[in-house]
Amino acid sequence: MQDERLLSPHLTGEDDSNESSLRPLRLQDYIGQGKVKENIAISIEAARERAESLDHVLLSGPPGLGKTTLATIIAGETGRPIRKTSGPAIERPGDLAAILTNLEPGEVLFIDEIHRLNRSVEEIMYPAMEDFVIDIIIGKGPGARTLRIDLPPFTLIGATTRPGLLSSPLRDRFGINCRLDFYEVEDLERIILRASRILKLDINNDGAYEIARRSRGTPRVANRLLKRVRDFALVKGEGNIDRDMARRALDMLEIDEQGLDNVDRMILEAIINKFNGGPVGLETLSACVSEESDTVTDVYEPFLLKLGFIQKTPRGRIATELAYRHLGIKFKGSFQEPQLFEDESND
Ligand code: ADE
Repeated sequence: MQDERLLSPHLTGEDDSNESSLRPLRLQDYIGQGKVKENIAISIEAARERAESLDHVLLSGPPGLGKTTLATIIAGETGRPIRKTSGPAIERPGDLAAILTNLEPGEVLFIDEIHRLNRSVEEIMYPAMEDFVIDIIIGKGPGARTLRIDLPPFTLIGATTRPGLLSSPLRDRFGINCRLDFYEVEDLERIILRASRILKLDINNDGAYEIARRSRGTPRVANRLLKRVRDFALVKGEGNIDRDMARRALDMLEIDEQGLDNVDRMILEAIINKFNGGPVGLETLSACVSEESDTVTDVYEPFLLKLGFIQKTPRGRIATELAYRHLGIKFKGSFQEPQLFEDESND
């Protein structure tokens, strides 16, 4: 479905080719995420004054919020080269050993989806991060020996949509831990205006605001919607984007006033209509809307939770009164967790 791709915070081929031109290269050009930016700026400055490599950085948060962009900026601001890979691409301990032993001194190693590193690879990472060494086991059985190899100092930047899935030994080895959150509409508006300047689009503030508020708090979605609105404005108008043009384009794309797409609405409707408001388990819900459970967890749920349309309970997801109201369905009262009698709870 086209709409699914449109609102997906995951990178698509088209994003890849022009997202790079829209990506800020300096921290001062990076809009939003004020706390994270301030944290990183101080750590960079301190590392610079001590003439040391920056401590390892963990960037977590929903997809499309700019974790890769921040990693690239950090490398640029510290004047270091960056090597990018991802958790699933590093299959065996030997793959990681090869990457680590080939790093330039001070290089930044970016590992996307770091929660998907397998355990045997992770174990190589612990001494590498802590002491810049790796231990390689040569041979098997009683004759096996451990060979210790020194590594150049490096900065690991890990990105994850699921920080809770990182093992604690790995998580504890990151000195700088930054959580990116959904962007404010005002920040998205500035991001859209900045992208429009780069793409030489004729857009006014109201047009940018209309796109921003339907971009589910995500710059990658904002930039993608901007391009679709640009196309619409070219075909249906004179090419300029104002509020009315943006609204007509986004209505046609079935992105509603709150930025929900068909899949978001299917999820809410499934909870409400098929499961009487919930609770419903993740696997059941994902099957109902024909999506991978990881996609529901990483992409759809965080935004529906942020809007207050769903809640997670120990027994599954429930739809809130706000969700009913948004879909125009009469609210019949929400599911209540069974209450213990007072004397039982005192036991
Ligand atoms: N493009 C995508 N994300 C951005 C951000 N946070 N600031 C500026 N431009 C961006």
